[in-house]
Amino acid sequence: VVPPVGVAPLLGFTALAAGRADTIVVPQGYSATTFLPWGTPLTGSYPSFLTDASNSGAEQEQQVGMHHDGMHFFPIDARSSANDSTEGLLVFNHEYIDHNLIHANGIDTMPRIADQVRKEIAAHGVSVAHIQRQADGSWQLVDNSPFNRRITGATPMELAGPVRGSSKVVTKYSPDGSRTRGTLNNCGNGFTPWGTYLTCEENWAGYFVNTDAEKPREHTRYGVPGSNGRYFWETATPPADAYQRFNASAMAADAAEDYRNEPNTFGWIVEIDPFNPDSVPQKRTALGRFGHEGIIFGKLEEGQPIVLYSGDDSTFEYIYKFVSAAPYYKNTAGGHLLNDGILYVAKFNEDGSGDWLPLDINNADFTAKAAAAGVTFTDQADVLLNTRLAADVAGATKMDRPEWGAVHPETGEVYFTLTNNSRRTEQQTDAANPRASNTSGHIIRWHERETQAAMAFDWDIFLLAGDVGTATPGTELVLTADNHLASPDGLWFDANGLLWIQTDMSGSQQGDGPYGNNQMLVADPVTRQIKRFLIGPTDCEVTGITATPDMKTLFVNIQHPGDRSTPGAFTSHWPDGGNSRPRSATVIVTKNDGGVIGS
Ligand code: FEO
Ligand code: CA
Ligand code: CA
Ligand code: CA
Repeated sequence: VVPPVGVAPLLGFTALAAGRADTIVVPQGYSATTFLPWGTPLTGSYPSFLTDASNSGAEQEQQVGMHHDGMHFFPIDARSSANDSTEGLLVFNHEYIDHNLIHANGIDTMPRIADQVRKEIAAHGVSVAHIQRQADGSWQLVDNSPFNRRITGATPMELAGPVRGSSKVVTKYSPDGSRTRGTLNNCGNGFTPWGTYLTCEENWAGYFVNTDAEKPREHTRYGVPGSNGRYFWETATPPADAYQRFNASAMAADAAEDYRNEPNTFGWIVEIDPFNPDSVPQKRTALGRFGHEGIIFGKLEEGQPIVLYSGDDSTFEYIYKFVSAAPYYKNTAGGHLLNDGILYVAKFNEDGSGDWLPLDINNADFTAKAAAAGVTFTDQADVLLNTRLAADVAGATKMDRPEWGAVHPETGEVYFTLTNNSRRTEQQTDAANPRASNTSGHIIRWHERETQAAMAFDWDIFLLAGDVGTATPGTELVLTADNHLASPDGLWFDANGLLWIQTDMSGSQQGDGPYGNNQMLVADPVTRQIKRFLIGPTDCEVTGITATPDMKTLFVNIQHPGDRSTPGAFTSHWPDGGNSRPRSATVIVTKNDGGVIGS
């Protein structure tokens, strides 16, 4: 048990009842304030947000993006003592955009207007915001700080690790296969012990189109569409290379138009140095290519390899672990540790044991399995470009949509949300995914045998989500009106060892049913006491969480409030109220007595 950084007892607040108000609700004794909503002027000439959504593409490039997701607070002294709780860099993802909200009248023309597409690409990616706590306790953006930065779906990036230079990432833009432009569908996040941010590319495949009859496995296994990209960016008019690159069809023998490999430069973990505004983001290909939800470090040990975990959020996909080739030493640690190592995939055995299966072309067991399956990989770059196929070949356990992971700061125990999987049949259930038609999801956990880098682990189910009365077999946990939940997604351990759980109910669960609006709960991982702590506004998702080191300021993201809106009819008016257009935003939670969050 971790000694609390602040006052005890923890979980002392009164749990919230589920609710459906178009506002943020926090427990008695706490306050919540909106911060840095979509469109906030952030860099350059600091263009004001226009409430009718008529800002241009160029303006959006200088404003906070849309649909906030994963997030991390870096104390301004993160490179030294890392304990400043009054000033830092808040770095946060922008997962996707909503046509009905990002433009004044949605979209009504096809082909797409180039400046609208430019704006949509600019609303994706990552924001870096230099923020400061004021004497009155409020937080403000530091205007004109050199750290304030937008990274978008168009920002130049480098490919790093084994896939760099592969023939399968050669494009017109990068004839030597070393570079690409932009990061897309940035969902969960991570951060490194050396003070950099990790953003994850989740549902990137849908942004591209490949109309060819024969498509490469690098496209098909990830679902690159055959008719059009999800936002029709490839149709932008007047046409430009920056938009045509989303068409990955073999359009022409003319290499000047060749972007067949463009989708292969997506699906990665991207490392960003927020303290160096001129740094070029690095796509860390050794960590595998899939629908990366989030990324989380295992517990660090001086002289041991670093270990990272990442889930692939799609039905029947997998959980992965990366173990660096070089050992970790605090004084020399850096991005090079992410370029060389072995990627493993999880197999959850029926008896509660588990195995990490290597996806390594130099491993005889792996190559024998590939040969037996009739699958050929030419080199490790080919394995990594086809990580999902490699995991199929290895015989990993197909999971119920792995979302975020969290590692207990003291014990190193790993927790993962499995958000739901309504497609799983009774015949497809297993001990780790025990429910057919799993519409409410669960949380699994494991501890590694011996060291974090171990090849075997022991696991159990921490929580089965569901309505009041849902029991988790083998435990005393039975959900009540204080903590019933569905579709767990965001997951985070605070410095006191409390586990924060965020929900992403969608469809009918989001708009109707017993759970109220999407929300955040907090759990004691030892006792399984769980309480509802925050409820979001109408039609939102609660996702992304971080705090100051003293745990007295908590940052939480509210994504897609009012996501069933049409241009003329908004289903939420959060956060600006009245008849306003809904905007994703960060929420700052504090305790009115200045105490530790969660107490
Ligand atoms: Fe972007 Fe899996 O949530
Ligand atoms: Ca998510
Ligand atoms: Ca989700
Ligand atoms: Ca979402």
